[in-house]
Amino acid sequence: MHFLPEELDAYVVNHSEDEPSLLQQLTRETYQKILQPIMLSGPYQGRVLSMISKLKNPKNILELGTFTGYASLCLAEGLQKDGELHTIDVNEELYDFQRKYFDKSEYGNQIFQHLGNAIDIIPKLDKTFDLIFIDADKPNYVNYFHLIIDKLNPGGIIISDNVLWHGKVIEPLDPKDKSTKAVLDYNTLLKEDPRIETVVLPIRDGLTVSRKL
Ligand SMILES: C[S@@+](CC[C@H](N)C(=O)[O-])C[C@H]1O[C@@H](n2cnc3c(N)ncnc32)[C@H](O)[C@@H]1O
Repeated sequence: MHFLPEELDAYVVNHSEDEPSLLQQLTRETYQKILQPIMLSGPYQGRVLSMISKLKNPKNILELGTFTGYASLCLAEGLQKDGELHTIDVNEELYDFQRKYFDKSEYGNQIFQHLGNAIDIIPKLDKTFDLIFIDADKPNYVNYFHLIIDKLNPGGIIISDNVLWHGKVIEPLDPKDKSTKAVLDYNTLLKEDPRIETVVLPIRDGLTVSRKL
């Protein structure tokens, strides 16, 4: 989805950091071997995630929805030297692919994979986090928020992906469309919850940054 005229969009991308070569390799292999490669964060959003993480310099990061590990590696770039990134995905077929790329990176021993439904795994994580990236199934976004908010340190950041849901957030709602309803409810929750402050960034499919007060 392009929010700017395509030429201007290309200018923005060309004047931002280049995608690291390991991530180019990961993207190639994702497109060759994995279904729905469109789920990758992609080069520009990846550099945005990397920049936010470097600005925050988190001790612990949590990611919901690992897929092939693209965003995990972008977020890991900002980790403190002894920091940890915990990432959850329900699809066991992706596990070895993710590990291969985590181990090729300099963050291999800082990245911990959790296999299963994020709803079950989050309550078992005995940690607090400075940065949380929500990028799993949309119908659970509101549930994820309630599960993670007490695990987010004051000043900590939640980044939520796909909050504009291909523009469907401003179209008439089809009552059968559970995902769009879930995204609408989630966006209202982020705007109204007094524990956080929120800005929606018109990046790719919409990226919200919320900061815990
Ligand atoms: C959009 S992809 C994540 C993309 C990845 N964060 C990136 O930027 O490259 C969503 C992922 O969420 C996972 N997922 C969906 N429902 C889940 C659940 N209930 N618990 C954990 N993971 C889930 C899917 O298997 C899929 O890999």
